[in-house]
Amino acid sequence: MQALILVGGEGTRLRPLTSTIPKPVVPLVDRPFIAYMLEWLKGHGVEDVVVSCGFLAAGVRNVLGDGRGFGLRLRYVEEPSPLGTAGALKFAETLLDERFFMLNGDVLSDIDLAAQWAQHEESGAKATLALVDVADPSHYGLVRLNADKSISEFVEKPAPDQIDTHLVSAGVYVLERPVLDIIPPDVNYSIERDVFPQLIGAGLFGWPGDGYWLDIGTPQRYLQATFDILEGDVETAAGRRLGSSYLFVGDGVQVDGRVIPPALVEDGCRIAKGARVGSRAVLAHGVSVGEQTVIDSAVVLQGAEIGANCQLKSCIVGAGVRIGDNCTVEDGVVLGEGVTIGANNVLSAGARVFPGVELPADAIKF
Ligand code: GDD
Ligand code: MG
Repeated sequence: MQALILVGGEGTRLRPLTSTIPKPVVPLVDRPFIAYMLEWLKGHGVEDVVVSCGFLAAGVRNVLGDGRGFGLRLRYVEEPSPLGTAGALKFAETLLDERFFMLNGDVLSDIDLAAQWAQHEESGAKATLALVDVADPSHYGLVRLNADKSISEFVEKPAPDQIDTHLVSAGVYVLERPVLDIIPPDVNYSIERDVFPQLIGAGLFGWPGDGYWLDIGTPQRYLQATFDILEGDVETAAGRRLGSSYLFVGDGVQVDGRVIPPALVEDGCRIAKGARVGSRAVLAHGVSVGEQTVIDSAVVLQGAEIGANCQLKSCIVGAGVRIGDNCTVEDGVVLGEGVTIGANNVLSAGARVFPGVELPADAIKF
């Protein structure tokens, strides 16, 4: 089986994480995000994956290579300029099989892809969309379904008065090659807005999937995905690494404080006296945590140095960040790579600090 994964978006909603790292390879718990997708696909028999890149393509290729490490064949196509979700599909045409999966590149899920494929084959559909229930469909593609599972309407980003169901497209499709015939070449074209509406009544089906599903495209959802992996709420290899103790502490970690599961602390970290890491915390390689500091429900990426008496909660701290003593970083804050925060600052309410910025001591209080 084959899959095409679209990763050409700029990931603007995840900035500043995605200012320096392409969204598909942003680290999530202990591996680049797209590794979760590749492991999930592989687990359902997919062996050939085409990655459709745009923005920061070399960064994706450098991390994933030819796919051997994942037991897959990985190939890349690179659009000269973004062609939209259907334009990107058309652009990959020469590499595609008669029948294949197409996936948005920001989906963390363990739904049963083989079952979706099986329904697609049985129904003779041209396109079968995996469907999931979400509390607020306004950010997604809303789907209305007939009793025979054919789709009667597809509304991308529905307005409040259009929301009468919670069923949305998971961004995971099984497609037949003839779908490509309705996409004009070399123009920006959207599968959601331009293709699916044309396929209604002409072979567009839905497959309501059971299982875990999350689009990781915002800081809040990135943190949610982290917690769900740590808690084992989604079936992943990273979660299995934590095992039944829900705890992984790497080699050479110096713990003079406490680590509270679920938590993952990679090699070379140092946790000073009186500090607490967890629950629901990730420290990537070589992070140091000062005395009495608390890191709770937060992610700290490679090589960051956190001072003493800090409170980090519900935040994402980029690689190489330095935080001085007595700081509070909370409530959805994202610190980009290499940011420096001087002592005695309070950052809150979803503030985003861009890579390399230096904030002097006592600069911000909420
Ligand atoms: N190659 C390429 N070129 N990829 C693109 C382009 C492009 O021009 N534009 C977007 N993509 C990729 C993004 O990188 C992402 O992986 C995927 O297409 C979807 O784009 P998002 O920007 O994440 O869309 P969304 O989350 O607002 O909505 C989509 O996903 C929802 C499920 O998460 C839609 O498909 C919705 O219908 C769906 O419900
Ligand atoms: Mg998305």
